[in-house]
Amino acid sequence: MQLANMLTPTLDDARASMPSFAFDPFDPWTVTFQAGLECAGLSGRRVYEVGVGSGTNVLFMLRDCAASLVLGSDLDPRLPVLAQQVVTEVAPGLADRFRPIQGSVSLVNGPAARAEVPLADVVVACLPQVPDPEDTMYARFRGAQLPTAAGAGPRVDDHVAHYYPWAEFNDHPFNAVGLGLIEALLSQVRAYAPRAEVVLNLAGRIGRDSLLRLLRAHHYRPEELASRIVRQDESTDISFFRALEAAMRGTGGEKDFACEFYADPEGRTPLSARAAGELLDADPTAPVYHEICVLRGHPCD
Ligand SMILES: C[S@@+](CC[C@H](N)C(=O)[O-])C[C@H]1O[C@@H](n2cnc3c(N)ncnc32)[C@H](O)[C@@H]1O
Repeated sequence: MQLANMLTPTLDDARASMPSFAFDPFDPWTVTFQAGLECAGLSGRRVYEVGVGSGTNVLFMLRDCAASLVLGSDLDPRLPVLAQQVVTEVAPGLADRFRPIQGSVSLVNGPAARAEVPLADVVVACLPQVPDPEDTMYARFRGAQLPTAAGAGPRVDDHVAHYYPWAEFNDHPFNAVGLGLIEALLSQVRAYAPRAEVVLNLAGRIGRDSLLRLLRAHHYRPEELASRIVRQDESTDISFFRALEAAMRGTGGEKDFACEFYADPEGRTPLSARAAGELLDADPTAPVYHEICVLRGHPCD
């Protein structure tokens, strides 16, 4: 091993001092996302990551996928700063191929993001698909469907990595199934970068069909790049899926929006959202699983 390599911190070193507001770079979500990014044909291409987090995907896309340039922004203004530090410390030779967009940027709102997104070949994102338990519109919906359900749990430092403000995205039809933030992103990318591909890391809890429908509704042809069954994160409140399942009962629309949880890591034993929630209520460490899949959307026209 060369001396330079011995002195260069690794991502493991960076992780040891990772602040709690950053999404864990070794979380199964990120591991699955990277399995998909590896198959996304990023070599020589310009990538924009929405929700750049700790910068772990930036490193991965530059070093392992040979992307030519990566741009990244985040709703949390501390994260582009952190991402830049991590890339510079772990791979100083690649740092000039990462351009963080500073400040708080929701989706691709804001002048710097709007200037850069049209130049991207690929837009990648792993964004929340669960309403913020403190959102008032969601609290009303949950209360109507699950009168006995507990309210918001303790707020963790990386809260915005897990939840999104539901009411703000209510003009997007797929918000009804927790995909409003992702739908808003697709609308923006369609408008500002109509030829760009999208690569999304998505939970299958809402049902794989809903994910495919969302991409098609925005004129993307979906292609699966990776899929894994992972354990339901014990700190994420899944009462939204129970409330949705309860709201659909007896409407005839149950099949369109069937939630998909499992009792085993192979995905052989399906569980309804209600059964999954009851298991977790009784024991937050109960074995409850769901799929994560990485879908690429090819723009169709
Ligand atoms: C689940 S984490 C994923 C982080 C990283 N991309 C990864 O895959 O490891 C979601 C990230 O999206 C960011 N985020 C949440 N809502 C956002 C929004 N409206 N616009 C941009 N970023 C957002 C969070 O701050 C967080 O960094």
